[in-house]
Amino acid sequence: MTKTPSIREIFLAGLRDAHAMEHEALALMDRQIQHLAEYLDVQARLRSHRGETERQIERLDIILASLDESASTFKDMAMSLSGNLAALATMLAPDKVLKNSLANFAFENFEVASYRALIEMAREGGFPDAIPLLQETLQEELAMVEFLEKTLPAVVQRYLSAHRVAKPADH
Ligand SMILES: [Fe+2]
Repeated sequence: MTKTPSIREIFLAGLRDAHAMEHEALALMDRQIQHLAEYLDVQARLRSHRGETERQIERLDIILASLDESASTFKDMAMSLSGNLAALATMLAPDKVLKNSLANFAFENFEVASYRALIEMAREGGFPDAIPLLQETLQEELAMVEFLEKTLPAVVQRYLSAHRVAKPADH
């Protein structure tokens, strides 16, 4: 018979997944930042969110250490979901900046969902010290989602005008 995992084990697995997710987020942002010279506002926001992401990883390390789990005892696994989201975005849009905006939006929303789930697990499992740290990160992810949502129309418009896409003729 397989042993039913405890809430502590489920919470730990979730924290490790979030740790891997944030490393994936750093890689996703690093692939974009230097190529965004024509999109300075997006570039600046990604730079600042990169800094936030490093602090988010530190918060996860603090929580893991409080549960007697150090980050170095496990290896971050490549996240298949983020890979799938990026692949989906590739199919939807021909332009890289646009494609990345869609991938970023999907990724940040995934992060929001992950931290909401972790907060719920911390509540249910009796890990109250973890909650304010997870809440702080959740607020940063929500702010990033809001920025990406607001910026998307402008990114699309700049892409269209840069490529002089002709409007369809009226009939
Ligand atoms: Fe994020």
